[in-house]
Amino acid sequence: MIKKITLGLIVLLVLIQFIPAERNESNDTEFDITKSYDVPDNVAMILKGACNDCHTNLTRYPWYSNIQPVKYMLADHVNEGKRKWNLSTFTKLPLAVQNHKFEEVVEMVEEKEMPLPSYT
Ligand code: HEC
Repeated sequence: MIKKITLGLIVLLVLIQFIPAERNESNDTEFDITKSYDVPDNVAMILKGACNDCHTNLTRYPWYSNIQPVKYMLADHVNEGKRKWNLSTFTKLPLAVQNHKFEEVVEMVEEKEMPLPSYT
């Protein structure tokens, strides 16, 4: 019984490796936040280290990112993160929305909701 379950799990694990996931690697910076805002170096460094992987159009993937189900989880976080706040397309947003997003950033960081706990 245990043997069959283990075998089933292994087969499943192998099969899910074939599920594709979108990679977030377009490096278009036309509407990047830095086009309208002067982002100080120290802030840019924090963004790069802690936020950009989920909130820009360019993710630095870790080596295990090609292994399912991690691949799927990462793609999900990136898509969801970009939907809420994408620094690469930030200046396309109406000004009022941009300002509101800055408030959200403060809130997220103060409440320690961002970066996502699974990321740190
Ligand atoms: C591992 C991926 C990941 C990282 C890293 C990450 N975020 Fe997020 N972020 C998300 C996801 C997913 C959401 C949407 C779900 C939610 O709101 O909890 C989100 C939502 C947000 C929102 C909410 C926007 C809105 O309008 O509701 C803000 C602001 C935010 N993140 C800021 C940050 C900041 C600042 C950092 C770096 C300090 C950061 N995030 C790092 C994945 C991430």
